[in-house]
Amino acid sequence: MRAVSTASVLFVCMGNICRSPMAEAVFRHQAREAGLVVEVDSAGTHAYHVGEPPHPETLAELARRGIPQGEHRARLVTAADLERFDHVVAMDRANLGELRALAAAAPQAVRAELSLLLDHAPDEVDEDEVPDPWYVGGYDHVFDLVTLGGRGLLEHVRGELEEQS
Ligand code: 4NP
Repeated sequence: MRAVSTASVLFVCMGNICRSPMAEAVFRHQAREAGLVVEVDSAGTHAYHVGEPPHPETLAELARRGIPQGEHRARLVTAADLERFDHVVAMDRANLGELRALAAAAPQAVRAELSLLLDHAPDEVDEDEVPDPWYVGGYDHVFDLVTLGGRGLLEHVRGELEEQS
């Protein structure tokens, strides 16, 4: 019997309590609905909230939209993540810069493809960064953006899985 092809995706924001846990939950749901086997996780570039659950507004928005929530607790992204995950996907350019710096200093090979989530969104989306609701609110808008970016990313991952099989 042939092994099922799998992929892995890590979403990254600053605190790992607002945007990336929302992207993680949405993408896991999207992948499940599409019947794809994808390991999904999230992490932050800053340690302020390590060990905490997602922000109450992130959890409330997921509940409003009917997306199941996991048991995520905030954690820091590490160089080992860049070796372990196929895709490491940043919410904004500052996060992506931190990931590139981590990659440049990594003791081991970097396997992950680094990208901005909204690079995967359709052209109609004219934003290229997911705004940080910790500062500006708008969890509903963040949900819409991570849904659109997630959809495009899923198609990208599906293509890779088809190539593997
Ligand atoms: P996130 O939002 O990066 O989307 O999780 C933030 C949460 C907390 C802080 C900054 C951003 N903070 O400075 O504590």
